[in-house]
Amino acid sequence: MSGSTAAPSSLSNGVLILDFGSQYTQLIARRLRELEVYAEILPYSTPISQIRAKAPRGLILSGGPDSVHRSGSPRPDPAVFELGLPVLGICYGMQLMVALHGGKVRASRTREYGHAALTVLEPNALFEALPGSLQVWMSHGDGAERLHNGFKVLAKTETAPYAAIADESRGWYGVQFHPEVAHTPEGGRVLENFARRICRVHDRWTMASLLERQISAIRDQVGQGSVVCALSGGVDSSVAAALIHRAIGRRLHCLFVDTGLLREGDRERVEGSLGQALGLNIKVVDASKLFLGRLARVSDPERKRKIIGKTFIEVFEKQAKRLKGVDFLAQGTLYPDVIESVSVHGPSAVIKSHHNVGGLPKRMRLKLVEPLRFLFKDEVRRLGAEMGLPREILGAHPFPGPGLAIRVIGTLTKERLRMLRAVDLIFREELHRSGWYDKVWQAFAVLLPVKSVGVMGDARSYESTVVLRSVDSRDGMTADWSRLPAQLLQKVSGRIVSEVKGVNRVAYDISSKPPATIEWE
Ligand code: XMP
Repeated sequence: MSGSTAAPSSLSNGVLILDFGSQYTQLIARRLRELEVYAEILPYSTPISQIRAKAPRGLILSGGPDSVHRSGSPRPDPAVFELGLPVLGICYGMQLMVALHGGKVRASRTREYGHAALTVLEPNALFEALPGSLQVWMSHGDGAERLHNGFKVLAKTETAPYAAIADESRGWYGVQFHPEVAHTPEGGRVLENFARRICRVHDRWTMASLLERQISAIRDQVGQGSVVCALSGGVDSSVAAALIHRAIGRRLHCLFVDTGLLREGDRERVEGSLGQALGLNIKVVDASKLFLGRLARVSDPERKRKIIGKTFIEVFEKQAKRLKGVDFLAQGTLYPDVIESVSVHGPSAVIKSHHNVGGLPKRMRLKLVEPLRFLFKDEVRRLGAEMGLPREILGAHPFPGPGLAIRVIGTLTKERLRMLRAVDLIFREELHRSGWYDKVWQAFAVLLPVKSVGVMGDARSYESTVVLRSVDSRDGMTADWSRLPAQLLQKVSGRIVSEVKGVNRVAYDISSKPPATIEWE
């Protein structure tokens, strides 16, 4: 990864998680951070020199889908056990610990999956201040069958005689269950005991302390230099910009590109909430003519995305060059992207050529400032709140880079954009008014290239159809359609056909993802 990062690089008061490919690995870090213990994730194969350089207070070996019996299954550098650090192995991580230290792991072709009752057999630091019996979540095939001398059993379940083990003299602990998932209600306290009592992490990782550290890290990195930033008005770029602004004030230059593909009020919101209220140095570049000109007669969604991505880079580059003495580019890269790019599974397949400004730094030879590189999305929101960013920015639904271009299905015209903007505004207004805006992940309207017959008074009409889409989701990867109340839909539909000229039919999308996607293009 190029460029330096205004972010924590030492774990001297935190825990390092080695990822063996479990779907829950990110959750371990999130749980710990919720408990104000700083945690980072690295792939299991990270060389020991890098682990040492991080100087963590303890290690967690995550779960993973593999079996320790398979040759070629993931192994850490054996030296991780010689660092003198406490280690917590979770599921596959525990089996590794057992198998690598003279114990025996039973291979199993069937998986135990679901709730189990855990009985704690003797008092110990990992289960301190917890009841003697806990509900836990199991998801494993193999299990420990024999331990070597140093280890003892701490807890069992009906089917797993070694559900938790420890070699207390070395600070090594293993749990067969998943303390990081919500199905293990007391799991957070198990992780907290490991971090606070066993690893002796004393610092509290709070948003206030993070804010101070990030500000000084940005100042160290940028010195007397200047930074340029592409502000979209979305949560990530807004929080990144507000943070850098705190550190270097008006030496941060924000460029807001009006692509002509924005929603009603987007530009005013950025100018008002970030420009006027927070004092950010924002230049609005109206490039709508250029974008709409290049998109005229284009109907293929991927071509739309490519044209928009390329045009955006062109416009941004031209404007940035006019700013004298800029040597840094700010990006709102988040931790999941960072983990993904080095993950055990490799970067996930790109289904859509997502428009982002990732192509910028290489061409522009700017150094990167990425102050959110180590944060999860909910942490970005909390950091934004800590800096006083308004709810209308922090609580905004995700909005795709290519904007309304991929919501006007088929070819774009000014008239069709006008219709969609008006429909989208009504939908959002009613969602806000009814309190539903904050309950759903994302809601928007799509304009179809389909006309249908209707009646307006005594006359027949032949006009456009719009689709309302609202989904519930945790991360946008999977989603279900929101069960919006019929009354709300009725109100929205009524307003649309009476207020928006050219639309006579409204449909509500009831498909989930998969198999459908959230956007229509
Ligand atoms: P899909 O449609 O792939 O959307 O289910 C998942 C999430 O990604 C957003 N999305 C995009 N964001 N550029 C973006 O910046 C794009 O081209 C793009 N396409 C989809 C979508 O709004 C949803 O939040």
